[in-house]
Amino acid sequence: MKSTITYLTTQLDRAIVAALGDDYAGVDPLLVLSSNPKFGDYQANMAMGLAKKLGQQPRAIAQSIVDNLDVSEICEAPQIAGAGFINFTVKPSYLATQLQAMQRDSRLGVTIAEKPQRVVVDFSSPNIAKEMHVGHLRSTILGDCIARVLEFRGHDVLRLNHVGDWGTQFGMLILYLREAYPQALTTADALDLGDLVVLYKQAKQRFDEDPQFQEAARQEVVKLQAKDPDTIKAWNLLCDQSRREFQVIYDRLNVQLTERGESFYNPYLSTVVEDLRATGLLVESDGAQCVFLDGFTNREGDPLPLIVQKTDGGYNYATTDLAAVRYRIQTDKADRIIYITDAGQADHFAQVFQVARLAKWIPEHIEITHVPFGLVLGEGGKKIKTRSGEAIKLKELLDEAIERFSNLLKARLVDEERQETDEFITNSSEVIGLSSVKYADLSQNRTSNYVFSYDKMLLDKGNTAPYMMYAYARPQSIARKGDIDFNQLGDNAQIILTEEAELTLAKHLLQLGTIITEVERDLLPNRLCQYLFELSQKYNQFFENCPVLSSEEPLRTSRLILCNLTAKTLKLGLDLLGIPVLERM
Ligand code: ARG
Repeated sequence: MKSTITYLTTQLDRAIVAALGDDYAGVDPLLVLSSNPKFGDYQANMAMGLAKKLGQQPRAIAQSIVDNLDVSEICEAPQIAGAGFINFTVKPSYLATQLQAMQRDSRLGVTIAEKPQRVVVDFSSPNIAKEMHVGHLRSTILGDCIARVLEFRGHDVLRLNHVGDWGTQFGMLILYLREAYPQALTTADALDLGDLVVLYKQAKQRFDEDPQFQEAARQEVVKLQAKDPDTIKAWNLLCDQSRREFQVIYDRLNVQLTERGESFYNPYLSTVVEDLRATGLLVESDGAQCVFLDGFTNREGDPLPLIVQKTDGGYNYATTDLAAVRYRIQTDKADRIIYITDAGQADHFAQVFQVARLAKWIPEHIEITHVPFGLVLGEGGKKIKTRSGEAIKLKELLDEAIERFSNLLKARLVDEERQETDEFITNSSEVIGLSSVKYADLSQNRTSNYVFSYDKMLLDKGNTAPYMMYAYARPQSIARKGDIDFNQLGDNAQIILTEEAELTLAKHLLQLGTIITEVERDLLPNRLCQYLFELSQKYNQFFENCPVLSSEEPLRTSRLILCNLTAKTLKLGLDLLGIPVLERM
């Protein structure tokens, strides 16, 4: 069902634009949430800028806008304050109608994008024969959330796993295994990923030390590229091995991805280079084929080119990404392409995008974005390690979160003298442990580094998964206590908003659509976390100040609707973060 709700901010915005009239077409009303409740709910800040332009008094301009403004359905009479701010206070009657509409709508009033797009989200993307590390975990969690938000807004999302499954390292690895562990190249499951990683390191050491081995490894790459059947079979086995292990992590995290690794673009690499040559962008430098770009220099200040074909004729990571850009635009018909990797790859993507633009492979209307994120650090700001000091494996990291939560939960049950089945404990710990890891990641501004702390992420206070999940469970327990079916509250029941806490909660609930469109635009999941966190806090305020089950009708039903809307909003919001809810905790 297509939602017919227009967000409050959009409605106010339109009313102001109408009041400005044709003379000021295109002027942004600069509508924001009020910084202080004493100035109402929203303020429009454009009078100051306009005044400067027109050489008039800002307050006079604000007054003439207000004189033409009709927002009586939504707000009390707008007030002019300070230098020329226009303040709006939303009418409770308007909030009540909007909440009723939200209650009726399965999408909770969140609209579907007017122009749904085809969006490629390139995320997770670990490398074959290597361990998936915390950086890939971060990409997986962020990417899944971003994809979920876009999907919910009605976009057609292609979730691509650009795994590193090609390159000279495979020559080296296959050659080494042929000597050290030939079964691995002929039998499925002869190795697990842990062994493979160890063997990879040994192969690399051999490669670095032994020139003869180096040369033989190159021959092996040539065989791989020439699709020699034995070599391809060995390569496939190695890929399958890694794939199975990656899949275990994806299944646990409930993340869907379509694998389309680097090798997929092999057939297109030579055309990429040929086409760049044809457009005159290619320059030979020390035997390599390069494109020189604006704004990229090395330490000495000399221009730094993007190499697309190495001296030995081989292609590289950048060539593959250039081929991928073209493929995603021409064949996948993407309108928007989003890459989620650590900030360390920012230059790589800036260069690839610049080359693709110079080559005219990116039409005007297409938005192509690198979504960078910071590092995940261990306690003390150092590299994240296990207790015994080794590099941490993702599986262990997830297991530990679960185990620690399970211990907290057991202690809590003892404290509360509560009896629960083992099944309840195992299931809650699994769900909450994993959710805590996800939420800790998503609730940070992704551009900053963050310290991975089990202690913090598992707390049931503050901006954490357990806190949010308890906040969801609370209204459910009210329903159980009052023997109430939230679905039977009626779509047209009266909503009464008189208490401060009710009004505050109502206004916050109605922000949902705006927040989701912001996340869709800026790709910052922490905004959604912050919104949900504030929602739980406002709900708690409401719950402390406004009796629900003991109130008289029609107030009782009105308050139950607020409980239900809060629960539904939390559930939807958490779902967009990739986090399930528990009905009972
Ligand atoms: N495999 C790369 C890595 O582990 C990430 C790939 C990201 N996607 C891309 N199209 N380059 O760092």
